[in-house]
Amino acid sequence: MKTKLYRIPKVAGYEKEINEAADVIRQGGLLAIPTETVYGLGADALNEEAVRSIFEAKGRPSDNPLIIHVPGSEWLECYCRQVPQTAYDLAEAFWPGPLTMILSRDPIVPNRTTGGLDTVGVRCPAHPVTLAIIAAAGVPIAAPSANTSGRPSCTNAEDVLEDMNEKIPAIVDGGPCQVGVESTILDLTVTPPQLLRPGGIPLEALESVVGTITVDRAVTGLLKPGEQPKAPGMKYRHYAPHAKVTVLTGAGATTADYIRKHCSPQSGIICFEEYALLFEGMEVHLLGPERDKSEQARRVFDALRKFDHTKVTEIYAQCPDDSGLGLAIGNRLKKAAGFRIIDLGEKEI
Ligand code: TXA
Ligand code: MG
Repeated sequence: MKTKLYRIPKVAGYEKEINEAADVIRQGGLLAIPTETVYGLGADALNEEAVRSIFEAKGRPSDNPLIIHVPGSEWLECYCRQVPQTAYDLAEAFWPGPLTMILSRDPIVPNRTTGGLDTVGVRCPAHPVTLAIIAAAGVPIAAPSANTSGRPSCTNAEDVLEDMNEKIPAIVDGGPCQVGVESTILDLTVTPPQLLRPGGIPLEALESVVGTITVDRAVTGLLKPGEQPKAPGMKYRHYAPHAKVTVLTGAGATTADYIRKHCSPQSGIICFEEYALLFEGMEVHLLGPERDKSEQARRVFDALRKFDHTKVTEIYAQCPDDSGLGLAIGNRLKKAAGFRIIDLGEKEI
């Protein structure tokens, strides 16, 4: 199958392309869509056959549920039951944006979409082109990240093409993703709400609206054998480059120094840009300035994907602290490392 590429940088002037893209969804096809977080691999969430082909194209285990994308909170009552007021408060504060809410599922959402769960994840993405495509299609779009299962997520259309070329009918290129890590997933079917995956909306920002939030153990560490995360996707090996990854936590100067002492010519380095000079001549990917977590979020997947095109056999990564977007960036790096973490925190200066 030849994969068609639609370049749709904005809505105005691209109505014809938006309609064509929406037609792909309406006809039960797969369409890669841009969002502010990462690219998604979309299909009509209500069409079981279309949803089945998402799992096939990604090589995704069928028990891993998909989130559905809607154009606004007014669609919540169509696909969810017993929607609490908190959901509307959160939507008011953070939608369109990188927040996925887990709510009770209305049976109109097929089992195939939710992996048989009686809950459904719902999000309103902040990309005008994708919002226009959903509105034109008239159905929620189920979309996991557009990467092949297990690989780091795609934050631009070229990465999607690399993973999905000739597997799907079409890709919408809406430019590079502005946030760079996936949405924050918050389970609202429990009290207090529970964070299942850190993402583009920081935990602190959510707490300022809903108060205390508990954090699922799968967010911060490896689960014990037999222990199940609440977000089924958190149990799979994820975001992993081919080379083994080791994550260093602690003060930047300390972790950079550690890496410099332990790396070899075959090592790849992911570091804050302040320390780039220490690794001259090596395979280095910069995460951005040490204090600029927004930039680090935009670059983290790119850094992990790019090493797959090099000869490096191991990767050392500096990691931001857990505040703000740091929790999501650190989670992606640590998952890529299978939670192989060296904590130099106590040596902070
Ligand atoms: O930013 C994002 O959320 C991106 C863009 C494309 O919107 N999507 C995304 O989807 O990251 P995916 O499938 O790669 O990750 C969704 C995660 C998975 O770990 C899945 O297990 C979890 O959400 N999930 C989906 N539905 C769930 C549910 N009903 N209960 C618990 N976890 C759920
Ligand atoms: Mg994913």
